[in-house]
Amino acid sequence: MFRKNGEYTFKIPSAPPDLDSIKREFGEGKRLVGRGVVHLCEAADVTFLALHGGAGEDGRISALLETLGIKHTGSDYASCHLAMDKALSKAMFRQSGIPTPDGDVYNGESLDTIPIPAVVKPVGCGSSVGVSIVERAEDLQKAIDFAAEQNCRVLVERRIVGREFSVGILNGRALPAIEIIPKHGFYDYSNKYQAGATEEICPADLTDEQARNLGEKALSAHNALGLGAYSRLDFILEESTGIFYCLEANALPGMTPASLLPQEAAAVGISYGELCEMIAQAGI
Ligand SMILES: Nc1ncnc2c1ncn2[C@@H]1O[C@H](COP(=O)(O)OP(=O)(O)O)[C@@H](O)[C@H]1O
Ligand SMILES: [Mg+2]
Repeated sequence: MFRKNGEYTFKIPSAPPDLDSIKREFGEGKRLVGRGVVHLCEAADVTFLALHGGAGEDGRISALLETLGIKHTGSDYASCHLAMDKALSKAMFRQSGIPTPDGDVYNGESLDTIPIPAVVKPVGCGSSVGVSIVERAEDLQKAIDFAAEQNCRVLVERRIVGREFSVGILNGRALPAIEIIPKHGFYDYSNKYQAGATEEICPADLTDEQARNLGEKALSAHNALGLGAYSRLDFILEESTGIFYCLEANALPGMTPASLLPQEAAAVGISYGELCEMIAQAGI
């Protein structure tokens, strides 16, 4: 990030960065953490994890810190892994009676057996990387290949049509839901990170009963995965049935001041600084 006249000039690119080439640039090869980082973490009271996505969120960094006895924020490595693997979390949600779109890992079965419209996604990514909404059977194979490029299993699930929400959990309670309304298309990488591409309304316009129902489902989903002091769960409210379907859990949700969870905290009077302090105090 570069500061010019007090303004940050860094712009998030509209497509995901190639992390391997960035690591090569810094001469770090296949290492997940740079030289000296562990030493710094050992010297700190607590390591504040704000590594949304990838090895930061899927439990690898938490496992490294836990193995070395270094206190960190967020959830333990096993819960992070469950949350990052959309097939495992789906199984846990089902077991706990939390509605989640029908779907399974694609194992090479005949494409004719897959109901359309479908959503195809890598089981272990985030930020909508590799996600496609498929409306025509002839586009399925391309979407499966696209998701598989992320080097992991591919999940194919029923497309839920309706309004989209995200709900943060903080210290055992649900924050007010935020409604996400992309101006064009679905909530893909570009709509997530390009300023102004998506309208975000918090607290969401829901009846008291809907808001309570959504908050309860979010807390159940958080608990089903054994997540820690905070997380964020994504939902779609199916237009035709009024059911909130849980799409996935984020063990380390985005934490810029403009991110969804900080906006939800602000809606109940918790400033960004206070939120960070609460998360740090709850370190494990
Ligand atoms: N089953 C589904 N039905 C409708 N839209 C979906 C479905 N699954 C995902 N999406 C859309 O794709 C976006 C990204 O999917 P999600 O499961 O939240 O993965 P991630 O955010 O980790 O990439 C969602 O925010 C939503 O807009
Ligand atoms: Mg999501």
